[in-house]
Amino acid sequence: MISADIIKMNSGWPLTNNLSQDAAMTTRAANPREPEHEIVTGGANVLEWETSDERMKITSKVPDSISSLLTGDWKCEPDDSVKPDIEEAASHCSPSALEKAEKDIEKAPDKCLRRLMVPRTRLVPIIMQLAEIYPKSSIQMSGFFLYPENGGYMGWHTNSDSPCTRVYITHVKEGEKSFFRYRLDGEYVTSWDKAGWNLRQFEVTKENPMWHCVYAEEPRLSVGFRINRNLL
Ligand SMILES: [Fe+2]
Repeated sequence: MISADIIKMNSGWPLTNNLSQDAAMTTRAANPREPEHEIVTGGANVLEWETSDERMKITSKVPDSISSLLTGDWKCEPDDSVKPDIEEAASHCSPSALEKAEKDIEKAPDKCLRRLMVPRTRLVPIIMQLAEIYPKSSIQMSGFFLYPENGGYMGWHTNSDSPCTRVYITHVKEGEKSFFRYRLDGEYVTSWDKAGWNLRQFEVTKENPMWHCVYAEEPRLSVGFRINRNLL
């Protein structure tokens, strides 16, 4: 069952360019294909990775059954402190910013983003779809954000206070203007967003923290989940 607000979709995004303005702001992610209006059930959904190693897997082939549920209007929580500055964003996401970190940062104190309001009626079908991909797991929403254009970011952090599998599904219109950057075993990797949908799955551990950050020059929708494979 899908609520009506999920069905009205697909008219290009963003609706608004000025993301530093007030409260009742909505944004919209466009699915290039016609959305499914029914949840596909029965049989496990399997993701087809384009990049895959032990800690990080990436694909732009996000199943329609999920992207269609994320497509449409999202309301943002009011936040007057969101003032994008592209140089500030680039600086906070630079390797040199991380080199200055003296200890673990579990949650990023520095960020420029808007939090989305997520009605339960809309969240539940998304989690049901993810359960097809990640069976016998507990799946929790971890953060639904809209990074504003020209300086949206989340600074370096590890999330090491919450070891689990993390899944972030993102949408950008143009691509190659926003990224997820991470450092693992001393090596920096910049994973640029492709146009449309991208899904990244990575493993958060306490022992070998994977530092990561996010940078955006165009509006970037990002929905995250913590996945604990604890029901096996
Ligand atoms: Fe994170």
